[in-house]
Amino acid sequence: TVLPPISNEPVREYPPESEERMELLAACARVRSETVDIPCVINGKEVFTGNTIEQRACSDHQHAVARVHLASPELIQEAIDTSLSVREEWEQLDFEHRAAVFLKAADLLSTKFRNEVLAATMIGQGKNMFQAEIDAAAEAADFYRFGVKYANEIYAEQPAHHAQHVWNRVEYRGLEGFVAGIPPFNFTAIGANLGATPAIMGNVVLWKPSENAALSNYVVFKALREAGLPDGVVNFVPAAGPTFGDKIVSSPDLAAISFTGSTRTFNTLWKGVADNLDKYKTYPRLVGECGGKNFHYVHNTADLDNAVYSTIRSAFEYQGQKCSACSRLYVPESMWPEFRDRMLDCMRDIQVGEPDDFKTFMTAVIDEKAFDKIVSYINYAKESSEMEVLAGGEADKSVGWFVQPTLVQSTNPHSKLMEEEIFGPVITAYVYPDDQWEETLDLVNKTSPYGLTGSIFSADRSVIDTGLKKLRHAAGNIYINAKSTGSVVGQQPFGGARRSGTNDKAGASSYLARFTSMQAAKECL
Ligand code: SER
Repeated sequence: TVLPPISNEPVREYPPESEERMELLAACARVRSETVDIPCVINGKEVFTGNTIEQRACSDHQHAVARVHLASPELIQEAIDTSLSVREEWEQLDFEHRAAVFLKAADLLSTKFRNEVLAATMIGQGKNMFQAEIDAAAEAADFYRFGVKYANEIYAEQPAHHAQHVWNRVEYRGLEGFVAGIPPFNFTAIGANLGATPAIMGNVVLWKPSENAALSNYVVFKALREAGLPDGVVNFVPAAGPTFGDKIVSSPDLAAISFTGSTRTFNTLWKGVADNLDKYKTYPRLVGECGGKNFHYVHNTADLDNAVYSTIRSAFEYQGQKCSACSRLYVPESMWPEFRDRMLDCMRDIQVGEPDDFKTFMTAVIDEKAFDKIVSYINYAKESSEMEVLAGGEADKSVGWFVQPTLVQSTNPHSKLMEEEIFGPVITAYVYPDDQWEETLDLVNKTSPYGLTGSIFSADRSVIDTGLKKLRHAAGNIYINAKSTGSVVGQQPFGGARRSGTNDKAGASSYLARFTSMQAAKECL
C-alpha cells in the first residue's frame, strides 16, 4: 500500500504571550480544577464501577485529577469476551482501513487533542511542557504513524523464490486471542503504543493504563475512538495490577502481553504464564521493557561541556523517571574536580517547580511511594561511609512530591546506589584512575543485571571502539557523545536486553512483528 509521507511529529515551543501558550495553560488550569471520572470502556460502553482509585497531581497532591473506576475480574472477563467477538471482523478488514484509523488518531492527537493530552501529562504525570511535548504530542503520534508504516513493510515481505508452477506467499494474521497492553506511568506515548498499536496488525487489545497516567491514556483512547476505532477492538480496562494480571494469565485466549514496567512485575506475569501453559490455545508472546541502571562513561578525551550537559539532562529531566535515565556516572580522576564543579554549577541553576510554569526544569515525582523510595536511597547515602551527597539531598512532600536533584559520590563502585534502580533524580558518580578505563568499563557487566541504555563520552575513536566492544551487551541503546535518554521513534529503536526486557524495540518494525502470526501458503499452478 502506498501511504502518505510519514515523518516525526515536530515538537512545538509555545513562545511567551503566544496564543498556543495561553491555550495550553488554560487546558492545564482545567486539569488543576477538575476531577474527571474515568470509566472502563468495554465494547464502547462506559462502565463506572464505583470501585475507584484517585490519580493525584504530582506537584499538588491534595488535588485528584481523576477518579479511576477499576474493573472487577468479571468485567475484565467481559472485556476479553467482547474483544474476541469482534476479533475476526477487525482482522479481516482491509489494512487500509486499520491504517486510516491510526493515521487519523495520530492527526487528532497532534491537533484537536494536543492541549488536552499535554495538560493531562503535565499536571497528572508531572512533566514540564517540553517533556510533555516530546512524549504525549510527538512520540504518541509517531508510534501510530510509524506503526502503520512498519505494518505496511511487514506485509510487503513475501517469499522471493518460487519453484516452477508454484506460487508461494505469506499471509500475516493477527494473533488468535487477545493482547494485554500494560504500560507504565512515565510516558503517555508508551500507553498509546502498548494499549493500541498491536491493533494495527489486526489484533484486539485490553489496555490497562497505569492508575498514575489514567487521565492522559484516556485522552489517547478518546482520540482513537473519534478516529473510528470500532467498539471492542481496544477495550480500556483500568484495574488493580494483580487483579488484571491474574485474570489475563489464566485466560486460555491470552495471545500476548505487551508490558513496560518493573522487572519484578514482568517476572510475575511470566511465571503466571508458565503456570498456565497447558491452558493456552496458542503460546502467548511476552514482550517486556523493564528496569535499568543506565550509565554514562566519561573518558579523559571527552568534551567536558558536552559530557556535563548531557549528564544533567539524562539524570534530571523528568526527575530521572525515564527508564533510560542515567543514574551512574564514571569520571576519570584527572577530570573529576572540574566535572564535579560544573555539575554543581548546573544543578544550582535547575528550577524545580510547577509543571505549567514554563521556567521549570524539574517538577515533583509521581507519587508518595516513589518519593519514599527515592528518599530512602538518599538517606542511605547520607549514612554510608563510602558515599557523600555532594548536592541536593533534600525532599519535601508537604504539597507535592518534590525531591531536589541529587549528586552522590561513591568510593565503592559496587555500592547500593551504583547498582540498584532508584527511578528518581539521583545520580551516583564513581571516580576511576585514568589508566583503568577498560577495567572500569567492565564494572557494568559485573555489577548489574540490566542492559537498557548507556553512553560513552570520548573524542578518541579507539577508545570508543573499545567501549562499544566491552559494552556490547550492557545496553540495548548505546549512545556515543550523547545522553542516554530521548530515543525517537523511527530513529533509535528502543529497548533493552538482559533483565531490562525482551528487547523487541519500541519504535521499530520488530515490535509490530511480535503481534502477527504468519501463514505460509504454497499453491501449485
Ligand atoms: N524512549 C525513552 C527514552 O529513550 C524511554 O522510554 O528516553
